[in-house]
Amino acid sequence: MDREQEAIELLKSYNQNHIVNLLKKLDGVKKQELLDQIDRIDFQQIMELYDNTKKEIEIKENKIEAISYLDKAKLSKEQREKFDKLGKDIIRSGKYAVVTMAGGQGTRLGHDGPKGTFKLDVYGKGKYLFEILKDNLAEANEKYNTVIPWYIMTSKENNKATVDFLEKHNYFGYPKEAVTIFTQSELPLVDTEGKLLISKDMKIKEASDGNGGTYSSLRASGALADMKDKGIKWVFIGGVDNVLLKMADVTLLGMAIEKKVQIASKSVVKANPHEKVGVFCKMNGHPKVIEYAELPEKMAEEVDSDGELKYGESHIMCNLYTIEAIEKASKEPLIYHSAFKKNSYIDEDGKEVIPEEPNSYKFESFIFDAFEFFDDIAILRGKREDDFAPVKNKEGVDSPKTAKELYEKFWNRQNKKV
Ligand code: UTP
Repeated sequence: MDREQEAIELLKSYNQNHIVNLLKKLDGVKKQELLDQIDRIDFQQIMELYDNTKKEIEIKENKIEAISYLDKAKLSKEQREKFDKLGKDIIRSGKYAVVTMAGGQGTRLGHDGPKGTFKLDVYGKGKYLFEILKDNLAEANEKYNTVIPWYIMTSKENNKATVDFLEKHNYFGYPKEAVTIFTQSELPLVDTEGKLLISKDMKIKEASDGNGGTYSSLRASGALADMKDKGIKWVFIGGVDNVLLKMADVTLLGMAIEKKVQIASKSVVKANPHEKVGVFCKMNGHPKVIEYAELPEKMAEEVDSDGELKYGESHIMCNLYTIEAIEKASKEPLIYHSAFKKNSYIDEDGKEVIPEEPNSYKFESFIFDAFEFFDDIAILRGKREDDFAPVKNKEGVDSPKTAKELYEKFWNRQNKKV
């Protein structure tokens, strides 16, 4: 059987006759490209993920407990100095790298382009989100007399726009040789009948597979091997859209070293018991971030003997790993969550359909789902006003307006205009 016939048999066995029709219509390079894509896609996996969208979520008997943390503001002077020294030594000796996850679609913000290219209106002239991240790294480089290798994860969709933007702005002055851009993997989008969507360029339409893809993409792209060659021991992974993100917090790093854990995370306390954020807990003895929708109301409101929320430490995408932890997480399959979203596609008549309502499932894994592969995590509670100013929505909470206010207030407190 030739390659095309094999592909046709496969597509038919998964009920994808519309793609068989597309394949028959194409020739030359376009046909080869589609055949390559069919070879690469794991149809069995996609159909299982689609079938899962029809199933009721299983409520398992899980043992949920509060997780312990240290509050940065309440550390003793000795403790703080000890942590900071341990952290500084690692960064100074060039064993620290930073990864920025910039492969998201940023649908809520609705900015035309990758989120890192969004300009936040601060101090009159404005700053791009990538520029704000660069400033944070450059400050650490100066303090610790080093150049931290910076790895930026893009999606296939936004890679070119990201690279062009960073080139155009000369990486905002960050040493170019210290920047590595790598691309995350994708998964097909599936409609409500289980049919894979077709894209404008006559391929199977795919989208980035969630920020949990960071681990495996670090490995597959060669970035992890590159880190090992450079002698990196600790890796920070953070988002692109928190303008107060501290990517080289020596206290967090030193605390992780002192506690001899493989993973660590900075949290901020929940604004109120019902804030829509994921919170840390221990589930069946392992660290876990439990989504707000999955946290029973009673637990969300529960307080401990100090009157603090028992499940109050929010996950803010400020995570730290040993290189071995990244390696481990990159080899373990993460579960996929499905999101029902609006995605345009090409119909059987070759016409583009732009849906007004959600029409298809996007499958995404989440970075924090890897925490349960580990026995423990060190959590350092930061401060909202110092550590957390996300740009998520166009307006209202977590919008450019709230982020600008928090950013300017923070820097005014430091008596610095940047
Ligand atoms: P969010 O989950 O907030 O998603 O990403 P988003 O794409 O930025 O925005 P919406 O939901 O479409 O409005 C949190 C972080 O994870 C990254 C984002 O770039 C952001 O830094 N991310 C998300 C990826 O790198 N890849 C993905 O597939 C998804």
